[in-house]
Amino acid sequence: MKLDIFTLFPEAFEWFGTQRSVTNAVAEGNELRLFDYRRTTPLKAGQVDDSPYGGGAGMVLRVDVVDAALRIAYGEGPRPRTVLLSPSGRLLDDPLADELVAEPHVALLCGRYEGFDDRVHQHLADDEVSIGRYVLAGGELPAMVVADVLMRKLPGALGHEDSAAEESYSQLLEGMPEYPHFTRPPEYRGWTVPEVLLSGDHGKVREWRLEQSRIRAREHEELDERQ
Ligand code: ADE
Repeated sequence: MKLDIFTLFPEAFEWFGTQRSVTNAVAEGNELRLFDYRRTTPLKAGQVDDSPYGGGAGMVLRVDVVDAALRIAYGEGPRPRTVLLSPSGRLLDDPLADELVAEPHVALLCGRYEGFDDRVHQHLADDEVSIGRYVLAGGELPAMVVADVLMRKLPGALGHEDSAAEESYSQLLEGMPEYPHFTRPPEYRGWTVPEVLLSGDHGKVREWRLEQSRIRAREHEELDERQ
């Protein structure tokens, strides 16, 4: 897939681009591209934002600036599925990530300041996605979260084909959280590893793991109910 990120801070993604899942996905023919609104702004002196009509604190990312960035990137041709990061968007979860990773081309729009001129929501974005009901200083961290979850779902990104399939919330685990993992040593300060994992009986191991996932799912439900 092609994943494009529009941002005022492309340098914020430097570390992200070096992650193994990203470099693997790119080596498999996928693309991660960064676009800087400031490079394509039609306004003077790299201006990208303005004060809100009607007054109030903060600055608003201008619609003409976002439109120019998209037009220069894609011309008049077909647009990728365009996702705006916003605290009030659809909450990111595994099914939404599956939906997005099935797209051949996705663009993520990061905002800063007080957010986007609402015409960006109305006319330029197909979806709004939130990584949680709290407000961050900008869309860069949420875009990295979305990019991370998408990239590691791509074939070959994890180096080992099965490792994404049986992760927390995946279809293979019926949408449940993942079971606990253990590795050597088998005992540390009296803390032991469940016997069944050392038994070499794959059927029993599978049963135990599914049961552990179910226990965790029930615990999460109880926590959610208490909130
Ligand atoms: N931008 C600021 N806060 C955000 C959040 N929680 N999710 C997505 N985008 C955001």
